Parts: sequence; structure tokens; C-alpha cells
Amino acid sequence: MKVIKKVKDLREVLKVYKKEGRTIGLVPTMGFLHKGHASLIKRAVSDNDIVVVSDFVNPIQFGPNEDLDAYPRDIEADSKLCESLGADFIFNPDPSEMYHDKKAFVDIEGLSDNLCGARRPGHFRGVCTVCTKLFNIVGSDRAYFGQKDAQQLSIIKKMVGDLNIPVEIIACPIVREDDGLAMSSRNTYLTSKERKAALCLSKAIFAGEKMAKEGASVKEVLTKIEEIISAEKLAKIDYISAVDLETIKDVDDFSKATLVALAVYIGKTRLIDNFIYEV
Ligand code: PAF
Repeated sequence: MKVIKKVKDLREVLKVYKKEGRTIGLVPTMGFLHKGHASLIKRAVSDNDIVVVSDFVNPIQFGPNEDLDAYPRDIEADSKLCESLGADFIFNPDPSEMYHDKKAFVDIEGLSDNLCGARRPGHFRGVCTVCTKLFNIVGSDRAYFGQKDAQQLSIIKKMVGDLNIPVEIIACPIVREDDGLAMSSRNTYLTSKERKAALCLSKAIFAGEKMAKEGASVKEVLTKIEEIISAEKLAKIDYISAVDLETIKDVDDFSKATLVALAVYIGKTRLIDNFIYEV
């Protein structure tokens, strides 16, 4: 397992494997890897001959008042985990390697106007730009994304289709702590009191999903979710929405694959969770 910092070096080393016809899987991450990332890496290792994990806190997907500087980083622990899971390379560039004098960006219309995109202007432009760069740098056959960032996943799928980027996007299920909290690098920001309070997210998601499966309407499901979150004193709702999984437009019935998603502040930490209702 090797940590590579330069685009040129990564391309050179991967060229050899490509010539041999070996398949390459890419797991894009911002590092500080947890069990959620581990599940993506394991899947990539089982599907591909060579696995590259990108470990890059992407500055251009953070807004001016967001947590870019505070975002946790631990490349040594990440390397050990990747090694133990059988990944072959970590790509860990400096921001200047990725964005020296950068003037070109990739953006997507429509799908970023709702949910996290509406609350975090420019966030998905940053995500689309870095993912396009990573797809171009690595040239992987497949790339692995977690369902926890469901809007991101819908956007990446659409972007890859619209821009004819030859990579297969593989969606992997949300990984949760034993008590239900969805894994996130941002969980480390929570105090022990907040950590307990954060359980309202998964509690609300599980209750909403059960109701949806039992035939409740979108309105009833959203009302229940709101009720559960509002009962937690440390929680402040950013949004609770039901949207068409493909277009990310609000829906008022479950006639198509529907993403029921929420973002909630627990203290200063913004957490997200969701479920997908398949028809
Ligand atoms: O989901 C993330 O961790 C990031 O948004 C990603 C896809 C690695 C791009 O920086």
C-alpha cells in the first residue's frame, strides 16, 4: 500500500496496470476514515484488481463559514486501515496540486437546488469538480459512494451520464453505529451529551421508513419525523424533505423512488440521514 501525492506519479503507476488490462476501483473520500468508508473500500477490493482511495479534504466544497479548517485529518490511521483492507494506493494530494490557479469548474443544474445544495451554495459545484478531476486522474472502471450522501450520489450519477465519463458508479448502503447513528467523520465533533441527542436522527428515519412501508402518506411520514426531531432539545432542523430520487424535486406521494432526507444541527454540528422508498 503506497501513499501518492502527485497526479503525475499516480497516473504513471496506474498506466502499467491498465496496460495489463487490470480493473481499477476508486473510493473518493475526504479521509478520517470510519466503518462507512471501510465498507466502500471492502466492496471496491472485492470488485476490482487495483483499488485507489483518494484522501483529500476538498477546500472548494466548503462554504466560507463551514468547517474546512476543523475537518478531522489523520493520514497515518487512514493508511493503516487501507492497508488492512487490501487497498493498493492512497491518493493524498496537497490542495495546491489539485487547484493551482484553477479557473475551470463542473456544475450541475437543478439537482443541486434543493436539500443540502440549497443550504450550502457552491457545495455541489465543489463536489462535481473534484470528482471529475479524480475520475480523469485515476481513470477507474468503477467508483464507490455511500448512500448517506444520497443527493451527492444522485448528482454524481447524473453528471457521469451527462458528461459521458466512462466510470460505473456503485452505491453502497449507509453504515450505522450499533445504536443507529449513521457513520460520519463529523460525529467526532459531538460532545457525549450531543452524541446521545444525535440519535434522534436515526430514530426519526427508522420511524418514517416503517410508516412509509406500512402505507402512510408523504405528509404523515414527514410530520412524524419532524415530531421526533423536535422533541430533542439540542436538535435544530435544517430541512426534512421527500424528493424524487432522480430529480431531487419535492414530491407529495410515494409513486416513484423517493428520497426522504433530513439535515439537523446538534449543537453546532450539522448531521444528515435518509432512507429511500423504492416502489
Ligand atoms: O463524500 C465525500 O466525502 C466527498 O464529498 C467526496 C465525494 C470525497 C468529494 O470530496
